[in-house]
Amino acid sequence: MPYYVRMGDVPKKRHTQFRRPDGELYTEEVIGAEGFSGIQSIAYHIHQPTIVDRIEEPVEYDIEFADEDFLQHRHIKGFDVEAGGDWLTGRTYMMGNSDVNLALVRPTEQMDDYFFRNASCDELVYVHEGEGRLESPLGTVEFTDGDYVHVPRTIAHRWVFDGDIEENPPRLLVIESNSEVRFPKKYRNKRGQLLEHSPFCERDIRPPAELTAYDEEGPFEIRIKKHGKLHRYFVRYHPFDVVGWDGCMYPYATSIHDFEPITGRIHQPPPVHQHFEAHNFVVCSFVPRLFDYHPKSIPAPYNHSNIDSDEVLFYAEGDFMSRRGISRGSFSLHPGGIPHGPHPGSTEASIGKEGTEELAVMVDTFRPLKLTKAALDVEDADYAYSWQPERHAGGDGQVQTEQPAKP
Ligand SMILES: [Fe+2]
Repeated sequence: MPYYVRMGDVPKKRHTQFRRPDGELYTEEVIGAEGFSGIQSIAYHIHQPTIVDRIEEPVEYDIEFADEDFLQHRHIKGFDVEAGGDWLTGRTYMMGNSDVNLALVRPTEQMDDYFFRNASCDELVYVHEGEGRLESPLGTVEFTDGDYVHVPRTIAHRWVFDGDIEENPPRLLVIESNSEVRFPKKYRNKRGQLLEHSPFCERDIRPPAELTAYDEEGPFEIRIKKHGKLHRYFVRYHPFDVVGWDGCMYPYATSIHDFEPITGRIHQPPPVHQHFEAHNFVVCSFVPRLFDYHPKSIPAPYNHSNIDSDEVLFYAEGDFMSRRGISRGSFSLHPGGIPHGPHPGSTEASIGKEGTEELAVMVDTFRPLKLTKAALDVEDADYAYSWQPERHAGGDGQVQTEQPAKP
């Protein structure tokens, strides 16, 4: 996060005496990245956050890959992933590599009796369906459909969903990043402010809105994810006992609907859709927009070969104009090394169209992705052959229901 936020009470000068009403000192905690060289915040706790009464045996909690060496285009029907569990037990890992993992969660239970801290990864969560609030020591962030919620690593937190989630489970895409997630450098000036040509600005970013300090003695359980394990810590005091903080590291939300698309006379390449970056991958937002306006423009994208990136699209809403047979909540995965592009008929069918209502999240990785068994279980195994023209009727881009046998 590039900009400074201050909430609650903080002393005039950092690292100086700051006392509770009873005369005892508040406990200062610097939460920072890159060994005091990266972004940081300074929080003031009522109690020492370091008091731990019990640590239980860690439990395995890691992605397991089932298919590591594939080279074919994939269609993973993510909408079919079963609901169940809570924020952690319900997390279904779909694919990943050493930089980023993608998981779907459809929780039917709230995180009633523990807090979570991901000590290895920043979590960037796309809220496909659902609303509620993310609670943290630095305040509460409300979220709804279409929001990205960024939780920097090591911030303790709890997701609270509105409504009867057993009856109507929310749908979330979790992007676990082994490095800091940030806004692209190309959108920021040398002092960090978002530039005029950026598709979003600081006003579109929602830092925590409310800060409540809980002065409660526990024990309270915090499940900490590190090194592929969940470490179960029982701390003496409520982890949300912060009376004030300031700095540039905090959880926030920003909506995909506030991303202003960049359009042009001819087809604009995917980098215009970039929303976030991290080490070795980027996240892009495809949003409703007007199509290209050159008199002979072709709105559908051209075929392309990514020679050094794997390209994942998560289809959130609307018809994705270049691709047929892909449904809401699906992933397509187009690995580097082979070309991909519009389905037969889609290019011609796109000419003359004025705009699109599509909404999609793209994750482009610079190292190959591997799939999990859960992803293979909901795979449309025929997708790699779906560019055969004989599978498409009448040149309108629609996929025929009866398909010829695989070659
Ligand atoms: Fe592509």
